Amino acid sequence: MSASAGSVNKALPVLDVGCGVKKYPGAIGLDRNTRTSADVIADLDHFPYPFGDDSFGQIRAVHVIEHVADVIRTVEEFHRLLAPGGRAVIITPHYTDFSSFCDPTHRSHLNSFSLRYFGEDNAGFGYYSGARFVEKYTNVRLLALWRYLGFELLVNASRRFRRFWEFYLCYIVRGKVIEWHLEAVKKAVGP
Ligand SMILES: C[S@@+](CC[C@H](N)C(=O)[O-])C[C@H]1O[C@@H](n2cnc3c(N)ncnc32)[C@H](O)[C@@H]1O
Repeated sequence: MSASAGSVNKALPVLDVGCGVKKYPGAIGLDRNTRTSADVIADLDHFPYPFGDDSFGQIRAVHVIEHVADVIRTVEEFHRLLAPGGRAVIITPHYTDFSSFCDPTHRSHLNSFSLRYFGEDNAGFGYYSGARFVEKYTNVRLLALWRYLGFELLVNASRRFRRFWEFYLCYIVRGKVIEWHLEAVKKAVGP
């Protein structure tokens, strides 16, 4: 499902939050459920998470962000835990997928622009968060029918076309899963 997350900070560990029973190989798993493969039992809605600043080269949140109480605060915490240049790999249902509203434990229903508030221009909402990321990779998977018909390639061909799809087409040509790779930007501590 996931594309390569790049070769950034390979020396640092990977944290898989909400790892469930399919923890990413070699990662430190965190989950609140003791029946999972988690190495650390913690609640993503309680801050701070039990790790120091800049501890990880990669944080994976696979089908988890839609479960947390506060998406902005959670991504800010990912930012704190990532080393400069480290990446958050976030995978979540697109809000037009059946699963998004079917599961009553989902608290957020997102589209492929929902994390633009952490980008360079903050989508004009700089007061949402001080955490900054560079959006290195964004991909939307569509329902199988649309994928076979070639719509998935078109949707992902450019940010502009993806925006057009979100605005005009996605209620018919429905999405399935969004995947983002966000690179943490951290200010150098000056003298
Ligand atoms: C849909 S499962 C995904 C599991 C795994 N990432 C995967 O892709 O198979 C969501 C996971 O997130 C965990 N989770 C949900 N809310 C959480 C929270 N507030 N704190 C910690 N873990 C949470 C659940 O216990 C569950 O293991």
